[in-house]
Amino acid sequence: MKRTWAGTLGRAQIGEQILLKGWVQRRRDLGGLLFLDLRDRSGVAQVVVRPEDHPEIVEALAAVRAEWVVEVEGEVLARESVNPKMPTGEIEVVATRAVVLAHSDALPYALDGHAEASEETRLKYRYLELRRPELQRNLILRHRVTQEARRYFDEQGFLEVETPILTRSTPEGARDYLVPSRVHAGEFYALPQSPQLFKQLLMISGFERYVQIARCFRDEDLRADRQPEFTQIDLELSFPTEETVYELIEGLFARIFPIVGVEPATPFRRMSYAEAMEKYGVDRPDLRFGAEIRDVTADVRGSSFRVFEKTSSEGGVVRALVVPGGAATSRSKLDGWNDFAKKLGLPGLLHLKRQGGEPVFSVREGLSAAERTRLAEGLGVGEGDLALLAAGAAATVAPALGALRLELARQLGWIPENRWEFVWITDFPLFEWHPDDGRWYSTHHPFTSPDPRDLDRLDSDPGSVRARAYDVVLNGTELGGGSIRIHEPRLQSQVFRILGIGEEEARQRFGFLLDALRFGAPPHGGLALGLDRLVMLMAGVASLRDVIAFPKTASATDLMTEAPSEVDPRQLEELAIALRRK
Ligand code: AMO
Repeated sequence: MKRTWAGTLGRAQIGEQILLKGWVQRRRDLGGLLFLDLRDRSGVAQVVVRPEDHPEIVEALAAVRAEWVVEVEGEVLARESVNPKMPTGEIEVVATRAVVLAHSDALPYALDGHAEASEETRLKYRYLELRRPELQRNLILRHRVTQEARRYFDEQGFLEVETPILTRSTPEGARDYLVPSRVHAGEFYALPQSPQLFKQLLMISGFERYVQIARCFRDEDLRADRQPEFTQIDLELSFPTEETVYELIEGLFARIFPIVGVEPATPFRRMSYAEAMEKYGVDRPDLRFGAEIRDVTADVRGSSFRVFEKTSSEGGVVRALVVPGGAATSRSKLDGWNDFAKKLGLPGLLHLKRQGGEPVFSVREGLSAAERTRLAEGLGVGEGDLALLAAGAAATVAPALGALRLELARQLGWIPENRWEFVWITDFPLFEWHPDDGRWYSTHHPFTSPDPRDLDRLDSDPGSVRARAYDVVLNGTELGGGSIRIHEPRLQSQVFRILGIGEEEARQRFGFLLDALRFGAPPHGGLALGLDRLVMLMAGVASLRDVIAFPKTASATDLMTEAPSEVDPRQLEELAIALRRK
């Protein structure tokens, strides 16, 4: 007899004789009857054993407890009392035969009471945690997204090509995971931070359109949206413009988001990096709500308030966040926001509010009545509203107010459910200056093409050069990023030089790329999406761990296998590695 999936049972199967195999989710003995909730990947169905008809089954199942594995044959009948909470709640299966296939020890924690078990326990027994329907649902979603993406890119003429895992370091801004070579003692492979250079080489080889579901490895500080190994939907194409890439990705999202009932509105919004930083204080703005940061620097120039006057005349900025209805905010809440701002490097927040009359400024005598009124009117601070103001260098004020905007949104419930706000962030700066080591770094990576409009300033004013780079952002999360690449060896060498990578070092690290660029490299570009992040947002969960089968902790360990681990001294010996204990 062929097996039936428990979760597929319903009224249509009433009267059928079926065979189920799965785990006992729950056992109840009620008035002489034995009830088992039998679970498999598809769902749960109720099995009933009637002792008067089948005493041998009751005996066979006498010892059965939660998470034992059983096989049950029986007839599907309509239930007397329908259970509306259960998808299969209209039927039950009356057992005619049953066999125990596997015993289970008592679980280290009850799966339905998982919230009470510690995170460590749940990661240690990850295979049990994965029995929970939420995680099963997330991994099934991940599978469907991957499959749909593969189909889509195939239809668009992309070829799936695998690139090496044992390779040389690619600079994506994180530390490398290194793998020692036995054959070449003292030498190391690096695990790829991304397939960046290989996909560019595939364009030079003439494959035109490449895609890969690629595992990437980055040894960086971890957060809820970062794992040390993660998966990209990585793609590259020859002869594209930015528009080609935007259209392709919008088309992909229009295919995969309907899996969770979301129809993205295309084309997506576009916003320059400069605008995102000014209005939202981040390069991945959450556009599900307004509350834009407002710049009032010009309005307070020459103000009688010294802080405003000084900031505006010294090239700083004065910016504000308006909290509608915020005038009545309690002292302690305001103090909390103030502390939040201080942690982000601001000297503190100033307040302007209107509560039963003229606008009031937090620094008494700070602003004249006329200035207060003008500022309140400019910001749209009406009766009952509050504005939080910050003054200082744009590089501090923007990110601090950006973070405060998100914090206020969380605290005050500004984020609507079920909004999906996609946006392309464009015109990133090509380089970032790092004052600590006094040199330029690539904002994306060193293979990103400068904007041709800014090429003449590449050497004289690198900080003002825009990149042909773009990020796709959803609800404040960076889903992916990419760029049009440099395809001329001279320009690539020039960029290396600005990054402080001398000719010799460039040859040593990227000689193969510089060589390849000399042999007919087509204009090319692409993008990589973080698959884990994409599925995380689609599943509506807050952590990457919930969409990765076997994730790592914030300290990059796997609590189940206990990796990383020490190795046998003989292995080290073979690799010619000696450990220096800390
Ligand atoms: P980038 O470094 O922006 O670009 O990575 C692309 C996307 O990968 C995801 N991502 C991560 N997801 C989980 N954990 C991490 N530690 C992690 N790091 C990155 C993000 C990110 O947007 N080679 C370029 C792409 C290109 O230029 O084509 C690259 O890797 O969602």
